[in-house]
Amino acid sequence: MNAHAAPVQLSRWDSQFFGLSVARCFVRQPEDVNPALQWSLAHGVRLLITRCDAADTAAIHQMESAGFLLMDTFVRYRFDLRSKPVPAAGELAVRPFRPGDVSAIREVAASAFQGYIGHFHSDLRLDRARCDQLYVEWAANSCQEKRLADEVLVAELDGHVVAFATLKALTTSVAEGSLFGVHANAQGHGIYRALIAHSLEWCRIKGKEVMEVDSQVNNYSVQRVWQRLGYEIYASGHTFHRWLS
Ligand SMILES: CC(C)(COP(=O)(O)OP(=O)(O)OC[C@H]1O[C@@H](n2cnc3c(N)ncnc32)[C@H](O)[C@@H]1OP(=O)(O)O)[C@@H](O)C(=O)NCCC(=O)NCCS
Repeated sequence: MNAHAAPVQLSRWDSQFFGLSVARCFVRQPEDVNPALQWSLAHGVRLLITRCDAADTAAIHQMESAGFLLMDTFVRYRFDLRSKPVPAAGELAVRPFRPGDVSAIREVAASAFQGYIGHFHSDLRLDRARCDQLYVEWAANSCQEKRLADEVLVAELDGHVVAFATLKALTTSVAEGSLFGVHANAQGHGIYRALIAHSLEWCRIKGKEVMEVDSQVNNYSVQRVWQRLGYEIYASGHTFHRWLS
């Protein structure tokens, strides 16, 4: 790769999960595209996943002409805890997960993410059931791997776990709400809103100044909740897939 091109990284977990070699790269300029493809070919990559800023039209066009397919468009929002109070969380029982909750968290993820709208599900070459399962493993792994999450919160209704939130410190001042799921049977009752409010409270207790969240641009429910609570949009981008065989 040329020294100035964006680095491509083999994605060990994705590769193992799908049983094929997957790599990822954040494309910052059109000149990144061909070196990323060449690197992928040289390293036996079968699926190259790239992301780029939504404003980077030249890079987008370069990827289009090189056979990349658009898989999703994401938006990022942030809440500034320095300038706004954390909203009241309401009465719902929300607490940090316990090891005994993992099978319930798996059930919630299986229900919430079945046929999801993310970039994996948009790729018709990937097995649907595996794409569903990816979120189940992500949620369960978040309960034990610090690289994925620093905290997992669960929401209970009548003593049963019906929702979860995974939270990660990105820097000393910024944290991210990474993965949220509400069981299909419990959706539409404000549980997600409550989880976001509890997540903000977790950020406040940890001394964070900003909480970030992201999702697909067509995940309208979550954005309505974020906007009502005082989050503001600050970034957007696209995810592309390029198959090499
Ligand atoms: C997206 C998701 C988390 C939302 O969870 P939820 O608990 O249903 O969300 P809420 O109830 O807080 O809000 C959803 C809607 O219900 C409405 N609502 C909230 N409280 C309500 C109540 N008491 N009665 C009726 N409706 C209510 C909200 O106003 C919102 O409506 P809107 O979409 O028209 O604005 C859930 O559908 C899910 O798990 N989806 C799949 C995974 C996903 O998208 N995760 C987020 C990205 S990682």
